[in-house]
Amino acid sequence: MEFEYKNNELYVEDVRVNDIAESVGTPVYIYSKKHFMEQFNKFDKAFSRKHCISFAIKANSNLNVIKTFAELGSGADIVSKGELFRALKAGIEPSKMVFSGVAKTKDEIKYALENDIMMINLESVDELYAVNDTAKEMNKKARIAFRINPDVDPKTHPYISTGLKKNKFGIPYDEAVESYIKARNLDNIEIYGVQFHIGSQLLDSTPIYDASVKIAQLIRELKKENIEIKAIDVGGGLGVVYNKETDAPPSVEIYANQIEKAFKEFPDALLVCEPGRFLVGNGGILVTQVVYHKTNINKNFIIVDAGMNDLIRPSLYGAYQEIQPIKYKKGNKIVCDIVGPICETSDSFARDYEIENPKNGEYLAVFSSGAYGFTMSSNYNSKTRPAEVMVEKDRYKIIRQRENLEDLIKGEIL
Ligand code: LLP
Repeated sequence: MEFEYKNNELYVEDVRVNDIAESVGTPVYIYSKKHFMEQFNKFDKAFSRKHCISFAIKANSNLNVIKTFAELGSGADIVSKGELFRALKAGIEPSKMVFSGVAKTKDEIKYALENDIMMINLESVDELYAVNDTAKEMNKKARIAFRINPDVDPKTHPYISTGLKKNKFGIPYDEAVESYIKARNLDNIEIYGVQFHIGSQLLDSTPIYDASVKIAQLIRELKKENIEIKAIDVGGGLGVVYNKETDAPPSVEIYANQIEKAFKEFPDALLVCEPGRFLVGNGGILVTQVVYHKTNINKNFIIVDAGMNDLIRPSLYGAYQEIQPIKYKKGNKIVCDIVGPICETSDSFARDYEIENPKNGEYLAVFSSGAYGFTMSSNYNSKTRPAEVMVEKDRYKIIRQRENLEDLIKGEIL
């Protein structure tokens, strides 16, 4: 275990969390490099066919985190020019990059074509024409896939479901063949793949299997039209455990097995996977300091120095993330809301939560903060964003400085 209490004190690998909190300050994100590497290797080993893991860098886009995966051979799932820029800086090979997103601008398409990424995952026919036009201007051929919306219920939080008919993502399953035929007729398009992504934090492997079966059927139909699919991109979505009592994601072996089973008649196609949360979710904590206690009538509040601007998942999705003091002491439990400094009622990390009552000045760890933590942070209320630290064995390194006041107003013109 990379996040473990030893002698009642929390460690990340072999580093005492308290030492980091004291010297770097709080709030601070702390990551375990070992966890990231192990998750990647587990994912990699689970697949037996030819595959490419393209880390969904929206989950955690710190350059050092991306580089950790790049060194293991990872590609990247990117959704913006900025993410492509980061992926390049961190050393990811463009031939392992796929570009998702419903609103890619001409400028972004151009950047992707200049860098010759594996494929652009188109989310509409309008976008197909935009890519063709841009490629024509550049005298290039653009490799593309269509993102297909398979209309499968991923059985996850509505905010992170993406593969239902009513969602904005992809093109309708029933329009897929005609869209590929349109693509075939364009001079500057090379049909390369097919993609789908049905949602995130999937705790059941059936929806991914059902979607895969539908996509396999589509590949057969495309074959009849003499359209060959060279890459099958199954998106991301495999869930992780946030709440030991309720979350039971399928093992990565079952997940891989279901996908491989659905696509076994296309052994020559490259299987592309875009995991985000699975690789980084449980590889990070957010450490925050208790500032004050208060009780309003009969409700206890523990007020901490991190807010929804630092970690928005509990406020935005009502997501559960375990919180514990970094120094464990027995007894003296309290039921409380753990809230931040932001001027919003939703600025809370936990409600009616039972915890060993920490004193003001003590530190708490918010677990499972490696995915969609820092990347969703903001400067709301003009708060400076936290530092990020990577632990490797008994050493740690600041991989992003805490922002300062000058950072806060950078680019503003008075
Ligand atoms: N591929 C595409 C096209 C995606 O849209 C996503 C995530 C992924 C891959 C990676 O999915 P993962 O393996 O991480 O589940 N902020 C939310 C999650 C949003 C997911 C957005 N798309 C959260 O904190 O739960």
